[in-house]
Order: sequence, then structure tokens, then C-alpha cells
Amino acid sequence: MGGQVQKNILITGGAGFIGSHVVRRFVTKYRAYRIYNLDALTYAGNLENLKDVENQPNYSFIKGDITDVDMINALFDRHKFDGVIHLAAESHVDRSITDPLSFVKTNVLGTVNLLNASLEIAKNNQQFKYYHISTDEVYGTLGNTGLFSENSPYNPNSPYSASKASSDHFVRAYGETYGLPYVISNCSNNYGPNQFPEKLIPLFINNIIHNKPLPVYGDGNYTRDWLYVKDHAEAIDLVFHSGKLGETFNIGGGNEWKNIDLAKMLCRIMDVKLGRQEGQSEQLITFVKDRPGHDLRYAIDASKIENELGWRPSVTFQEGLDRTIDWYFENREWLEHVTSGDYKDYYKTQYQE
Ligand code: NAD
Ligand code: TYD
Repeated sequence: MGGQVQKNILITGGAGFIGSHVVRRFVTKYRAYRIYNLDALTYAGNLENLKDVENQPNYSFIKGDITDVDMINALFDRHKFDGVIHLAAESHVDRSITDPLSFVKTNVLGTVNLLNASLEIAKNNQQFKYYHISTDEVYGTLGNTGLFSENSPYNPNSPYSASKASSDHFVRAYGETYGLPYVISNCSNNYGPNQFPEKLIPLFINNIIHNKPLPVYGDGNYTRDWLYVKDHAEAIDLVFHSGKLGETFNIGGGNEWKNIDLAKMLCRIMDVKLGRQEGQSEQLITFVKDRPGHDLRYAIDASKIENELGWRPSVTFQEGLDRTIDWYFENREWLEHVTSGDYKDYYKTQYQE
């Protein structure tokens, strides 16, 4: 885009699910930005997610861990970032139940390292902005009615959401205490291409393809508000560029589904796509032991970002699921790569029957 000011932007976690969509959007849309993608390439990070942009002249990948304070400080010193969009995180609730400490390290300590380095930069750059990507899970659980707003109290129930809540608090505290210019957004459950197949939708797509059981936790009457990942990336673009500093924005799809209904819908769509008999995949549904501390329902009131920034989800759930399932069909090699090694061991310990 002509006339744009040259900016160095750091995106953390860009090799992961949401981060890869954000990196692609920024690299291709803002040609005058230089995008640095910092990612430790954990089990959830995969550079195959960014094959189409890896040779772009305004893109650089840096392999590094946000808990490595010396590396972070040197990186900020070298590139004098104008903006940071922080997505790197341990992101899976079930893993946080078996290994909370790694969530504290990456999500809390890693965030504080980035905040300290950001403060140094902000001293000499009036334009600097730190953007923290978070989750609606920090608000805890809803009952059968109501929506999370930006004013909902924090009430995290899982080690994952506790670590994200803690990092959100540190961001606000750095704003209040040291004047760090920041924005935060809290988003509902994302789905779409490149999501690691441990989260509900890609796990079930993968298992349906392979005729494996679909483990529905508890009675399946848990509700999530699903948003297509590219709509989240668009919201992130808007908040980064136009969100008022010091504010939080809730992002959600207005698209609530009970897990069991979603599972059945996936089965129906995939029976058609796979040429299976109607009802065949549904037989794979298996009710398993519930997740401890399982939040009943998440749902977002997105009116602030809609009214202030004009954001709306662009994709219906039907369209989004259709595109997502087709992507997993067309990217069997990706699925095979990401499900080898560490993940297979994890999968065995979780759901071995
Ligand atoms: P993901 O697990 O797919 O990707 C996380 C990325 O962070 C991976 O590429 C991983 O390699 C990298 N990473 C992990 N630890 C790191 C470390 N110590 N140093 C550097 N990089 C590290 O996660 P996602 O689903 O894309 O989520 C991205 C962000 O969005 C997270 O902050 C998450 O809390 C938030 N979020 C996710 C959702 C969702 O539905 N997935 C919803 C709302 C908010
Ligand atoms: P998940 O994708 O892990 O996202 P989150 O826990 O962050 O909302 O889970 C979405 C919902 O699906 C949640 O209610 C837990 C449930 N679930 C299952 O029933 N079975 C599964 O195998 C998984 C991974 C999740």
C-alpha cells in the first residue's frame, strides 16, 4: 500500500494457528511493514502454515522462545519494533490440566518479558503499541443465559485461563503503572485451516476421516461461541490499527453451539463429503469422562468492536465449516506431519480406551 509509513512489527506465535493467519494478512496487506514472526516452534507451531509467504521480502522468521529474556531484549534492541502483536502461548486447556507450569512459563513469564522489552522501546517511540491477544475464557463460565462483555469480572477456572488472565492483568498493570500503550482483545473459540488437531473441531474432523472415536466430554451439553479464524485475523487488524489505547475489545461469532450438536453436524456434513451412508460417522461419537473444571458456556457480546470499529464476522458457520473440512481433506500431509511424534504420545495418554 503506497504512502504507508515503514514499520517494524513483531508478531509472536506466528507459526501457530491464529498467528499464521495474522502473519499472512499483515505481510500481504501491509507491504510497507516489515513483519518479524517470533516463534519457538513447539508442537503447535509449524512453518508449513506460512509456506506461501515465507519468501516475501517484508517477512522474516525468528526461531526463539519468549521465556528467553536475553534473546528478547537483544531482538527488541536490534529491530526497535514499532508494534508488537503477542499471540505466542500454550493454548490447550487439557494440556494445562496435566502441565500447568509450562503455561505459567510461556503465558505469564513470556508475556512479562515482552512487556519489559516493550517499555524500553516505548520510551523513545511515541507510536509504539503493544497488542495482547487473549481469550474469553478469562471470564470463567456463563450459565444458560447472558453474554461476556468487556466489563465481565475475571473468573478463570482452568490453568490455561488462569495463565491468560494473569497475563492480561500484567498488561493492564504495565499500562497503569508505567504508561505502556496497549490494547487487549478477548476472543471466543476459533476454528479454521491450520488448527492443531487436538482442539474440538479439527480433532473430530481428523477422527471422522480415520474412522476413529469422537470423544465427547461429559454429556456434551457444553456451549462454545465459534468464530472463523480469518474473521478473528480481520478483527486483530482493526484493533491493532484503530482500537483506542488502554482498552479491551471482546471478539465473538454470535454463533453458539452445544458440543454434541456440533459433533452431529460435523458427522452429517462429512458423511456427504466422504460418500458415507447417512448416520455412519455419528456412530463414532463416544461419551467420555468429563474434563475437570469444565466451563459450561462461553458467549460473547461483540457490540463494542462492532460499533466502534465496524467489525462483523463475514463467514457463516456453514461456510466456515465447509471451507475448514475441505482444507483438512486437501492437506492430509499437513495432518500427518503435525500428528507425528509428541502429539501421538499425548493422544495415547488422553484417550486410550
Ligand atoms: P497455537 O497453540 O495454535 O499456537 C501457539 C504458537 O505459539 C505456536 O506456534 C507455538 O510454537 C508458539 N509458542 C508457544 N510457546 C512459545 C514460546 N515460549 N515462545 C515462542 N513461541 C511459542 O495457539 P492459537 O490457537 O493460534 O492461539 C494464539 C493466541 O490466541 C493465544 O494467545 C491464545 O491464548 C489466543 N486465543 C486462542 C483462541 C482459540 O480458539 N484458539 C481463542 C482466543 C484466544
Ligand atoms: P477445545 O477445542 O479444547 O476448546 P476450549 O476448551 O478452549 O473451549 O474444546 C471445545 C469444547 O469441546 C469444550 O467444551 C471441550 C469439548 N471437547 C470435547 O468434548 N472433546 C474433545 O476431545 C475436546 C478436545 C474438547
